[in-house]
Amino acid sequence: MRSFNTILVTGGAGFIGANFIHYLFSRPDFQGKIINLDVLTYAGNLESLDDIEKTHGGKRYFFERADICDRAAVEAIFAKHAPDAVVHFAAESHVDRSILGPEAFVKTNVMGTFTMLDVARNAWKGREDVLFHHVSTDEVFGSLGETGYFTEKTPYDPRSPYSAAKAGSDHLVMAYSHTFGLPVTLTNCSNNYGPYQFPEKLIPVMILNMVEGKPLPVYGDGRNIRDWLYVEDHNSAVWTVMTKGKPGETYNIGGENEWENIKLLKELMASVARHTGKNLADYEKLITYVKDRPGHDRRYAIDCSKLKKELGWKQSFTFDQGLDRTVAWYLENTKWIEDVRSGAYRDWIKKNYGER
Ligand SMILES: NC(=O)c1ccc[n+]([C@@H]2O[C@H](COP(=O)([O-])OP(=O)(O)OC[C@H]3O[C@@H](n4cnc5c(N)ncnc54)[C@H](O)[C@@H]3O)[C@@H](O)[C@H]2O)c1
Repeated sequence: MRSFNTILVTGGAGFIGANFIHYLFSRPDFQGKIINLDVLTYAGNLESLDDIEKTHGGKRYFFERADICDRAAVEAIFAKHAPDAVVHFAAESHVDRSILGPEAFVKTNVMGTFTMLDVARNAWKGREDVLFHHVSTDEVFGSLGETGYFTEKTPYDPRSPYSAAKAGSDHLVMAYSHTFGLPVTLTNCSNNYGPYQFPEKLIPVMILNMVEGKPLPVYGDGRNIRDWLYVEDHNSAVWTVMTKGKPGETYNIGGENEWENIKLLKELMASVARHTGKNLADYEKLITYVKDRPGHDRRYAIDCSKLKKELGWKQSFTFDQGLDRTVAWYLENTKWIEDVRSGAYRDWIKKNYGER
């Protein structure tokens, strides 16, 4: 089993990265340091890590504001902290935004990943006791029909600017392994949900709109299918691969939990209704079908048997448990939501880190 002294987490102020940092600090088998490298785009919010900063700041937790495309800044962070692992979450992550403005996706996801890899290769100079773990998505595999699953051998067939840019980053990661011998692992995961997710993604949008009595927008006929995984289970899988996975290998991560969007929405309504004491009918009348997203992939489903069989990973949360925790979190953390939506935390960033 591999262990690490200093882990450089890119995108640690985002949804999955912030949850990953919480997860690692809760693990007794990790006693090292975490460096959070994040440029703080609209999706990055240090409020998600307030408690970590208070408990571990300056001792085991350090934040560095930098753009992963800025080679000099990334090199300086490597020189200052000498990480022996990188977990690369930083990315532009929202498909709808990639349709409106693909350029940022190519810059950050492709060029940013290239910069991280190249700086790591130069800093580590052939060391074998180090690891670059790349976090990717099942969307690189394209769309499925009614049957079948994505495996690690499924050919890449990305169809949105987001997934194409992620596919590019995956290829670069594997090329750095094959060409330069950089020790890498790579995971492709299905849709995540849980605390600290920016309220533009399906589950937080729907929870907040229900509470506020706003329309619940459903794309097309609502019958697109996604596999859903609670974010802590994604992170436990990432940690399993980092500590036990074979360098040069890729692993699929999934929840074996497929839902049509409209059925998922109904589950979510039931959970919100349990928490708020309202009638389901109050929420059902808010459902509004809207024009489908261009190129909307019909179905994603993951075969994660390699991860389970070879590395012994399993999920800890059922879908009901994960949804209930997520709904409770969004109902309780109103300040986090207000600050994210109003941009109040951006003023704080400006005050502490200046304009960018
Ligand atoms: N959300 C999902 O369901 C899901 C599923 C599978 C894989 N992934 C992958 O997991 C990773 C994290 O996703 P997320 O949902 O937490 O994303 P997110 O959008 O919530 O967070 C991304 C973070 O990266 C930072 N960032 C963006 N551009 C940067 C740059 N140029 N330099 C430094 N930091 C930058 C942002 O400030 C933010 O903190 C992504 O690589 C994504 O492709 C996400």
